[in-house]
Amino acid sequence: MEEMQKLIDLRNDFLKDIEEISNRVDLENFRVKYFGKKSILSDLMNILRDASSDKKPILGKEINSLKIELKNLFDEKKNSLSKNLDECNTFDKTIKGNEFFISNFHPITLVMNEAIEVFKSLGFSLAYGPDIEADYYNFSALNFPDEHPARDMQDTFFLDDYDENKKNFLLRTHTSPVQVRYMKYHKPPFQIISPGNVYRCDSDISHTPMFHQIEGLAISNDISFANLKWILTEFIHRIFGYDINTRFRPSFFPFTEPSVEVDMSCVICHGKGCRVCKDTGWVEILGAGMVHPNVLKNVSISPDEYQGFAFGMGIERIAMIKYGIDDIRLFFENDIRFLKKFC
Ligand code: PHE
Repeated sequence: MEEMQKLIDLRNDFLKDIEEISNRVDLENFRVKYFGKKSILSDLMNILRDASSDKKPILGKEINSLKIELKNLFDEKKNSLSKNLDECNTFDKTIKGNEFFISNFHPITLVMNEAIEVFKSLGFSLAYGPDIEADYYNFSALNFPDEHPARDMQDTFFLDDYDENKKNFLLRTHTSPVQVRYMKYHKPPFQIISPGNVYRCDSDISHTPMFHQIEGLAISNDISFANLKWILTEFIHRIFGYDINTRFRPSFFPFTEPSVEVDMSCVICHGKGCRVCKDTGWVEILGAGMVHPNVLKNVSISPDEYQGFAFGMGIERIAMIKYGIDDIRLFFENDIRFLKKFC
């Protein structure tokens, strides 16, 4: 009888499938397939309904006993499986888990931490200052003249109580105010670094309104420009490798004299000239100089007795050169595909 053959096939499939169950998910899928509302077994009722009336009694009996047999086999499987799983401490380690991604540090944090470690190993200690800063610390005490362009609203975020005559508070435009705060309350000799966020009214492929800097300051009675050169060259070598050349170019900052801009040979073309270094073979990396006597005077340190150097660098810039990134905005877009690359 054709219907009988269907029952035999079903039983064979059932016996084969049940052998393959090894966890609760398999068990549930199996249950749905064979005993659920639209299962193979419920289809058997249609076979019975469609069978001719002489076949119906015998077919009905066969279907019933098959159902009982299969249900018993299923219960047995269920019991033995849950016993096994219970023995494994009720934690079913065979169930496939959700894929998850172990978090990693943001590239800016990585570079910042690396820079901090290098300076710490060179004897610098850490100092911090506020992001909301008084005009005095950000500009006046650092020898910025009143008409300096950085004091313009185009460049600096002045805060609400800003008025033409009373430029009181602002978001610091650099980490240099920490120098002033530190010098005001500490007696030399000292050497500090100050990492932190800084803010400038600027946004394009190489500028974001908020970015990170690390500042350095060393004051004593015998510090010279040669010390500054050595420290910065050593820093660049440790971050980028000892095959990198450095170059100190005269520059200007109101708070250092003499001032320099420090370049390093391009990590991409090694000085030959490429798109990243705009065919010059060099990339600018930081600003530095000897602390201006006026700054020392402003914090009541005698320039006749003490001198020192200061430097400041943008962490995004270092990260861009280190990782070959040509758009600073990538650091702030929180695109997980980008951030995962720094695992
Ligand atoms: N503050 C300067 C800037 O933001 C960098 C700097 C720091 C230069 C210390 C000289 C000395 O561009």
